Amino acid sequence: MSYTDLKGKTIFVTGSASGMGRQVALLLAQQGANVGACDLKEPTEVAEQINALGQGKCLPLACNVQSPKEVSAAVKKVVETFGSLDGKPSDVLHLT
Ligand SMILES: NC(=O)c1ccc[n+]([C@@H]2O[C@H](COP(=O)([O-])OP(=O)(O)OC[C@H]3O[C@@H](n4cnc5c(N)ncnc54)[C@H](O)[C@@H]3O)[C@@H](O)[C@H]2O)c1
Repeated sequence: MSYTDLKGKTIFVTGSASGMGRQVALLLAQQGANVGACDLKEPTEVAEQINALGQGKCLPLACNVQSPKEVSAAVKKVVETFGSLDGKPSDVLHLT
């Protein structure tokens, strides 16, 4: 998928409060993607930063990726909010 394909796509990004996940979330939104941003605590700071850019939108979610129930609930909210889920570059799935 090239960057030009990201406009209107929705990506689920884990560990997005800091480090690589945060940078991935920002870069995706700058390319026009909507981001379901999850971390152990709701990553409100990165969501505010993304939404202030006026490009892709961000939905912050508290979600422990070690819990299938929490992941299912978070994905459901992302689909309800943005209408689809097109990808999930996950940087903490090694923990599952
Ligand atoms: N930073 C690097 O250069 C680099 C290079 C190669 C690999 N890695 C690996 O990539 C991963 C992320 O690195 P980073 O530097 O971005 O780390 P980081 O600690 O800055 O970010 C990890 C984020 O994941 C969140 N997180 C942890 N457990 C979680 C869980 N169960 N559910 C949801 N969120 C959870 C943390 O709260 C944190 O916000 C690590 O496993 C690291 O070893 C990092």
